Amino acid sequence: MAHQKSTVGTPLKLSCGLVLKNRLVKTAMSEKMAVGGKPTSAHGRLYAKWAQGGWAALITGNIMVDDRYTGGEGDVAVPSTAAWREETLHTWTAWAQAGAKDGCHMIAQLNHPGRQSPAGAGKRSWFAKTIAPSAIPLNLGDTCIARVASAIVFGTPREMTQADIDDIVAKFASAAHLAAQAGFQGVEIHAGHGFLLSQFLSSTSNRRQDAYGGTPEKRARLVLEVIRAVRTQVPAPSFCIGVKINTADFQANPYAYQDMLCQIALLRDEKVDYVNLSGGTYEDPTMLSTTHSEPPSSSPSAPSGSSKSNEDSASATRKPRDAFFLQASKDVRVQFPDLPIILTGGFRSSTGINTALEDGACSAVGIGRPAVKYPDLPNKILGLHSFSGGISVDGGKDEHFEVESAPGGSGMLAKMIRSVGAGAESKYWAEVMRRI
Ligand SMILES: Cc1cc2nc3c(=O)[nH]c(=O)nc-3n(C[C@H](O)[C@H](O)[C@H](O)COP(=O)(O)O)c2cc1C
Repeated sequence: MAHQKSTVGTPLKLSCGLVLKNRLVKTAMSEKMAVGGKPTSAHGRLYAKWAQGGWAALITGNIMVDDRYTGGEGDVAVPSTAAWREETLHTWTAWAQAGAKDGCHMIAQLNHPGRQSPAGAGKRSWFAKTIAPSAIPLNLGDTCIARVASAIVFGTPREMTQADIDDIVAKFASAAHLAAQAGFQGVEIHAGHGFLLSQFLSSTSNRRQDAYGGTPEKRARLVLEVIRAVRTQVPAPSFCIGVKINTADFQANPYAYQDMLCQIALLRDEKVDYVNLSGGTYEDPTMLSTTHSEPPSSSPSAPSGSSKSNEDSASATRKPRDAFFLQASKDVRVQFPDLPIILTGGFRSSTGINTALEDGACSAVGIGRPAVKYPDLPNKILGLHSFSGGISVDGGKDEHFEVESAPGGSGMLAKMIRSVGAGAESKYWAEVMRRI
């Protein structure tokens, strides 16, 4: 069942003028393939393959704006010394060119991990603490082992000074400048998944009493300063500026839900090109939920594979499953009907995508793990490539693009330490990305 005539195949023009040729966006997934913080030819091969697969835009895995603070080995990171800048620009340019083909756009996701940077990750000493809005450590669970793991792996962050805040704003702006110079068509400012900017937005991790904490407006101040600083460094007005934020961690608390709406209104007033809605943090990793996944396979499957689990899923009866944050996105859309929303997480069928688009829940969808397993998923959904070869067809009525979950993601340790399952999941899919 091809969907070229339905909403998924229609273009979307963003306010910067960038036109997405369809509504299918490969969302950010850290490739963990950088060498010395720089992208390599392996990034080029991966992004060229995705561009050929029909994606409207490819959001890169998170690029750390300061190489002293990363998520770990293999992250792309902006060097802190000017001497490295030329070489970095060269590697970023090759990366941007590889993906910006066949009408596909390259968007660089910019991030700072804040308190989610493990000890020893990045070019700081083992003993230097990472930074955060407040000196509040991660809570990875209530078990003793979870508390010990959190203390050893992440420790307690140092509360940022005004000088740290100014430096962060400058680092995001400088990274955006480099991205524009390298030929990316836009940046996505990462203010989701519990990373530094998300830590500022949330009242759980931001207990500051200065201009950057307290009310939802004050907690959003750093994000707004970053957006404004980025704008001064990129070609106006044609460069795309999006922001990724969380929905899920706001839902448990009605005040937090109102805070989210207030903060989205501020983003809209900044005229961002889109808001990418997702959810989850290292403390509660709902973004890497496996509720929509098949059981693990014994080893990472080949992309577009014909593994046993796929054959099994082809014959299974499939029930449509909603995207992880569909209801939250619908609620946001009611409040902000003119703000383009990319909804990310949990899409596993063409009907699920089209229904979300046609119900007005979002303007485009962000797809992660299925993009790794099926690099040409858009061409399949739009009827340009055959839907055979690993994708299950439910009696010809719908196309499903199931993915398996990572082995080891649901063991005893994962039950005791909340981020262990998510860690297994991202390691597994990074390995599959390397094989594309
Ligand atoms: C291997 C891997 C790496 C990820 N890295 C990032 C990242 O760098 N930035 C980000 O915002 N989200 C990251 N995510 C989360 C995805 O963007 C997405 O929210 C999540 O995979 C849910 O979408 P899906 O169900 O389509 O996979 C990552 C996910 C995976 C599987």
